[in-house]
Amino acid sequence: MSYQDKLNYLINAFGGADNFQKLLGVGPSALSNYKSRKHLPLNQAKRLSKIAPQFGFNLDPHSLQIRTSDKNQKTEILLIITGGIAAYKALELIRRLRDFEFSITVVMTEAAKNFITPLSVSALTGNKVYSNLFDLTDEQEMGHIQLARKAELILIAPATANFIGKMAHGLADDLASTICLVTDAPIFVAPAMNPHMWSNIATQENCTTLLNRAVRFLGPDNGNTACGEIGSGRFADISFIVSEIQKTLHIKLNEKIRIGNKSQQKPLDGIRILITAGPTYEPVDPVRFIGNRSSGKQGFAIANACAAAGASVCLISGPVNLEAPKDIRLILVDTAEQMKRACEKELEVDCVVCAAAVSDWRPMQVEKRKIKKSSKKTPQLVLTDTPDILSWVGYHKSRPRLVIGFAAETENLKINAANKRKNKNADWILANSVFQSGVSVFNSDNNEVFFVSKNNVEDWGTNSKETVAKKLTDKISKYFSDIQENEVV
Ligand SMILES: Cc1cc2nc3c(=O)[nH]c(=O)nc-3n(C[C@H](O)[C@H](O)[C@H](O)COP(=O)(O)O)c2cc1C
Repeated sequence: MSYQDKLNYLINAFGGADNFQKLLGVGPSALSNYKSRKHLPLNQAKRLSKIAPQFGFNLDPHSLQIRTSDKNQKTEILLIITGGIAAYKALELIRRLRDFEFSITVVMTEAAKNFITPLSVSALTGNKVYSNLFDLTDEQEMGHIQLARKAELILIAPATANFIGKMAHGLADDLASTICLVTDAPIFVAPAMNPHMWSNIATQENCTTLLNRAVRFLGPDNGNTACGEIGSGRFADISFIVSEIQKTLHIKLNEKIRIGNKSQQKPLDGIRILITAGPTYEPVDPVRFIGNRSSGKQGFAIANACAAAGASVCLISGPVNLEAPKDIRLILVDTAEQMKRACEKELEVDCVVCAAAVSDWRPMQVEKRKIKKSSKKTPQLVLTDTPDILSWVGYHKSRPRLVIGFAAETENLKINAANKRKNKNADWILANSVFQSGVSVFNSDNNEVFFVSKNNVEDWGTNSKETVAKKLTDKISKYFSDIQENEVV
């Protein structure tokens, strides 16, 4: 279900647009903003989740969010706004970054002030806006150096061709360019300009120079540019910029924690693990979907256990009713296709645990409107296959070292699990029977598991899902410590 569909569904569920606005205390323009920004602020989502039971359902306030992992973490981003027509988009970008609780300090070039005012910027960041290198009050304390040092990350958005050129040539004739020379923080550049300016050999050579210095480019996108020309040069999608920043800062934060705790080394320190959890919902129409009974409890328990063992964990989850785990980057999806796309972006890891119960099929056609019961004929669903994520990971050219899957079976448990392991090129399968002592494994707090590897089948018996998670984490730890020992030898 797209974000828009999800929001429309919620609006209907809360009694229509007028009522929805009343409940949130906002007008129609805020509502259309939420739709176009594909984002409902967390405080509003929480407000809705409180009153949802009165409307006969429960709502996870995070199901409409992408969140930073640690709510108390205020990471400092220095945003440099340069003088391009897309400067106005920086205002929206600031709002989105602030939604994720980043602290933003802005430096504007003189040219940027022709496009937006420092007053608007400062109202949105809640911080002073800097511009002048020779501002005495700040320079008594070497302000430009302090600004560069306190930033965890520098984002130049939008970045003009001129500014990219200055960076490539090491110029430092204003506050913004001087900071770029002083900093040792990662620098991200989101260019925006006329397509001819972007494709000009001078600009391209400057970009190559910066890429070779590990500067990260976000965009530009292809499409209509502000000057009316079509081509490459559009400011990148704001949600893409925000998600790339979030990803980088999350990894940095984990490294910091690891270095800070060097004396208390944990078994999975330095290991990156991607975990999928929960069901997927494959829409039939805006109201109905094909899903399954997975609660996500096992996948979430594994994510928590791996994080507690020191791993850097990214958890991709389908719709579940569970609290977001702390210190874990959580990406929420609905469908199998979305889950695969999210995995694609996050596949640069050491280990993947596919614990999600991904729907095997989806309706070939998704109706835009609710299918009416009054239709004369009973509707017939035509299904098509969804992507097989475990197999896709198992045979991927960048296959992570350790690939683990789950098999929920109603019969021939061990044989089916062993075949699944082989066919999907997984290293291990955790096999569980759907009916365990007459009780469904889904939503249960316990799990009866067989651990299946190439040469071995272990009966782990029935344990809580937390214990299964801990046992698996110990296995993963042992696997990586054996590898490290062999590599040292
Ligand atoms: C109306 C207008 C729009 C402009 N838009 C852009 C733009 O989108 N991208 C760009 O690289 N330069 C653009 N420029 C040119 C820059 O403003 C110019 O190169 C300026 O020196 C940039 O300064 P700065 O890099 O210090 O911010 C524009 C200029 C004008 C007058």
